[in-house]
Amino acid sequence: MTQNPEEPIRLLLLGHGRMGRAIEQLAPSRGFAIAGTFTAQSNPGGAGLSREALAAVDVVIDFTRPDAALENIRRVAEAGGRMVVGTTGWYDRLDEARQAVERHNAGLVYAANFSLGVQLFYCLAREAARLMARWPQYEPFIIETHHRFKRDAPSGTAQELARQIESHLGARLPVIQSVRAGYVPGTHELGFDTEGETLLLRHAARTRQAFAEGALVAARWVAGETGFHHFSEILDMEART
Ligand SMILES: NC(=O)c1ccc[n+]([C@@H]2O[C@H](COP(=O)([O-])OP(=O)(O)OC[C@H]3O[C@@H](n4cnc5c(N)ncnc54)[C@H](OP(=O)(O)O)[C@@H]3O)[C@@H](O)[C@H]2O)c1
Repeated sequence: MTQNPEEPIRLLLLGHGRMGRAIEQLAPSRGFAIAGTFTAQSNPGGAGLSREALAAVDVVIDFTRPDAALENIRRVAEAGGRMVVGTTGWYDRLDEARQAVERHNAGLVYAANFSLGVQLFYCLAREAARLMARWPQYEPFIIETHHRFKRDAPSGTAQELARQIESHLGARLPVIQSVRAGYVPGTHELGFDTEGETLLLRHAARTRQAFAEGALVAARWVAGETGFHHFSEILDMEART
């Protein structure tokens, strides 16, 4: 798993849909080589992830489906591999994934949203919620909008956003509304509303490149690390160096 800094990091892409293709496009210009790609057909139930296939790559990147991610994680973990998981909708199985990764001394970074802007949005949201703690008349709400092909709702990002602010707002849990329409890559709004006014924080991804960039940052980091990590931990560490 140790890379020569001159050599590109070899990626195995799980999923060749909207996100898999965005990563494939960006990776060569960021110092990665695509060593292989699996889809649902070539990797049913994780069957393509043999030890031989995994030995030939440095990092596996999973942008598949909620019902496929855990089996993929389990197989990569059992081989002691390194992995980035962008797939959402499997977080009820987070503990199982963590145990598998830690038991086999593998390495994994996950996030519902790999865009740097969204990680900054979380920071702004926490600060807004901290201020709002003093003003109970403001009612929090989250609206997330995604393309009509997205399978899970509410989005993992909206759920994470709610988690980020809940400790400041006590009983005022934000209502989350999901919109599925058209081709929107992903928009999240956090609002605070009173009878007379609305305060709104908004993040809108324009293209999937924002997610692909972050996933590749995570891939470069995890290539040399072990353990089970959320993407925000890495950004915190990088900000301190
Ligand atoms: N974390 C982030 O920043 C972020 C950003 C955007 C999206 N996402 C999430 O990423 C996931 C993928 O999104 P997308 O828009 O790229 O979806 P998509 O366009 O529907 O593509 C999904 C791909 O996964 C493949 N697949 C399904 N099961 C598989 C398996 N067992 N092994 C390998 N490949 C498998 C599908 O293959 P077939 O074509 O053969 O069906 C397809 O190529 C979703 O959960 C989405 O919510 C996360």
